[in-house]
Amino acid sequence: MESLFDIFTRSYALSPEKDAEFFSYVGYLYCTDEVQSMRAYPQHSDANRLDHIRAVTYMSYVLSKRLSLDVKAASRGALLHDLVYYDWHDADFSHRPHGFRHPAFAADNAKRLEPGLTKKEIRIILRHMWPLTPLPPSSREGFIVTFSDKYCASMEMQLTKKEKMKARFEARLSEINKNLNNSPEKKNV
Ligand SMILES: [Fe+2]
Ligand SMILES: [Fe+2]
Repeated sequence: MESLFDIFTRSYALSPEKDAEFFSYVGYLYCTDEVQSMRAYPQHSDANRLDHIRAVTYMSYVLSKRLSLDVKAASRGALLHDLVYYDWHDADFSHRPHGFRHPAFAADNAKRLEPGLTKKEIRIILRHMWPLTPLPPSSREGFIVTFSDKYCASMEMQLTKKEKMKARFEARLSEINKNLNNSPEKKNV
């Protein structure tokens, strides 16, 4: 069984061909200009917000599938959990304190982007910062996204701070890419 570290690393090598099932849940939304624009914002250390969102979404997808939960809700909630159009490092009081306020901003943006979001998916977004924000997730899928968000954020920060961790990540990613490259139709996203 894949470790959390492997799932995190694998998220950097996803492809529509090798990961068709994953993209069947989030593909349309993943390709929108709004989600792709997340690439422009730094998130944690070297990871941009699209890297972070993709990692959290893939981990939520794998874990909810492993536990036979609502994979669609976990994946879609995770994909849109940080959909805010600003750099949270900016000293701009229109969005500070970011940690407390961005779940509501992201939920509003997510509803505009995908009016078909379910109540469960909206709550996944609204409550993903728990326990920083007071209300805990209202579903098991919500707990999975909240956990995956914290795990991936912590990994993203460690990759910059700890040389050993960065080396382990790069070695594992290179191994994953090598295996995927054995297939001629390989195409990373
Ligand atoms: Fe967040
Ligand atoms: Fe996040």
